[in-house]
Amino acid sequence: MTLDNRTPYEQIGGAETLARLVDIFYNHVKRHPDLAPLFPEDLTPVKERQYQFLTQFLGGPTLYSDIHGHPMLRARHMRFPIGTAQATAWLACMDKAMTQAGITGDIREQIFDRLRLTAHHMINQWEPIEEA
Ligand code: HEM
Repeated sequence: MTLDNRTPYEQIGGAETLARLVDIFYNHVKRHPDLAPLFPEDLTPVKERQYQFLTQFLGGPTLYSDIHGHPMLRARHMRFPIGTAQATAWLACMDKAMTQAGITGDIREQIFDRLRLTAHHMINQWEPIEEA
């Protein structure tokens, strides 16, 4: 195995791949019954911010922070009820979108692992625990 010192952003093919990924991802999101109700009709601005965020998340230019400041993702998601169903749905849409955008191999697994942690971190609604 050769060492790859490039950023994940570079390894997946940079801006072009990310734009494709974000587009495909939100096509799944708007068709998913657990996600669609949370999003506005016009997804253009959401796609734009997600593109900016993922660019910097993967080691590309700091597009999101340059425009919007610190991401504070969990805080920015607090106004939406996100339970395990929504986190699972988000990840399922992303999983399909990564495949369709042609992101494969080790780098795909590395990126997906980080997205899984981030998605779980967004959960702000919990099922009540059954008391004994
Ligand atoms: C866990 C399930 C998730 C749900 C249900 C969810 C849902 C949403 C919703 C409803 C919005 C607001 C759309 C609007 O502006 O009206 C949003 C914004 C956003 N989400 Fe998520 N999200 C989830 C996970 C994630 C994850 C894992 C990431 C990053 C890897 C992420 C990144 C973003 C970004 C960057 C924005 C734009 C924030 C802003 O500038 O306001 N989300 N999300």
